[in-house]
Amino acid sequence: MQQQDIWDADAAQRYDTPGTGMFAPENLGPTVDRLARLAEGGAALEFAVGTGRVAVPLAERGVPVTGIDLSRPMVEQLRTKADEVTVPVVIGDMATTVAPGEYRLVYLVYNTISNLLTQAEQVECFRNAARHLVPGGRFVIELWVPELRRLPPGQAATVMRSESGYILLDTYDVPHQRVVSHHFRFDGTRTARLDRTPHRYIWPAELDLMAQLAGFGLESRHADWTGAPFTAESRSHVSVYRLPPAHPAEPSNEPGRQPRAEDSGRSVTSAP
Ligand SMILES: C[S@@+](CC[C@H](N)C(=O)[O-])C[C@H]1O[C@@H](n2cnc3c(N)ncnc32)[C@H](O)[C@@H]1O
Repeated sequence: MQQQDIWDADAAQRYDTPGTGMFAPENLGPTVDRLARLAEGGAALEFAVGTGRVAVPLAERGVPVTGIDLSRPMVEQLRTKADEVTVPVVIGDMATTVAPGEYRLVYLVYNTISNLLTQAEQVECFRNAARHLVPGGRFVIELWVPELRRLPPGQAATVMRSESGYILLDTYDVPHQRVVSHHFRFDGTRTARLDRTPHRYIWPAELDLMAQLAGFGLESRHADWTGAPFTAESRSHVSVYRLPPAHPAEPSNEPGRQPRAEDSGRSVTSAP
C-alpha cells in the first residue's frame, strides 16, 4: 500500500481530534514550546506536515513555518486552519522534495520517518534535512523505540493495545525491519473498521548513524518533549541532531547538552 493511499480524504477528515489524543494541550504544548526554542528565532520546515497539528500552533507563536507533505487531502485540512502565506506547503516526498528558503530547524515528528520503508529512503531524508539547513541548524526527530522485546520467540505478531472498541495488532517482518500496524475499530455491530500502516522501524543507534552520514551530530536525546531522561525503558525519544556551526565555538542552548557526546555516540540523557 502506498502512503498516498493511506493518507486519503477519509483519513484526512478523521485525523484532527481537537483537544484530545495527539491534539491534547499536554501533548502539543511541550512539543510546540521546545520546537519554538530550537528554532532560535529562525524559520522552521516540517517534513510530513499533515493537517498542521504542530505547524499551525508553531506559526501562531511567530515562528515562520513551511511544510512538505505528499498528501493533498491532509494539506487541504491544514488549509482550513492556515492559508498559503501563513504556512506554505510543497507537495512531495520528504526524502527528496526541496522547499524554497533556508531554515534553522527541520523537524519530523509523530514517528513519521518510519513511513519511509527502506533504509536508503530514510538516509535520503536526513540528507534532505541537511540540504535545507543553515550551518548549526537542527533536525529534530520524534520516534518510537522498536518493541521487539514484546514479540515472543517464534511469533510474528503482538497485540500492542486492547481497549474498548479498539485493538492494535502489529505484525513483524524482522529480517526486513518492517512492522505493519493493524488498527481494528469496532462498535456493537458485527463489522469492524481496519486501517493498516506499514513502517520501517529504526533503533536509536541506527538513526544516529543515518544522521552522521548526512553530516549531523547528536546534540540531545530525551524520552519526551518535556526533557525527561531517555533510559532503557523509554518507549519513545525526541532526538536533536545538529549540523556543525559556521563558527565552531558557537554555544548550544540545548538542555542536556554534553560536550563531545556525539563524538562518542553515547546517548545524552540529562534532564533540562
Ligand atoms: C501521522 S501523520 C503526521 C502529520 C503531522 N506531522 C503531525 O504530527 O500530526 C503522517 C503524515 O506523513 C505524510 N507522509 C507520509 N510519507 C511521506 C513522505 N514520504 N513524504 C512526505 N509526507 C509523507 C502523510 O501524508 C501524513 O500527512
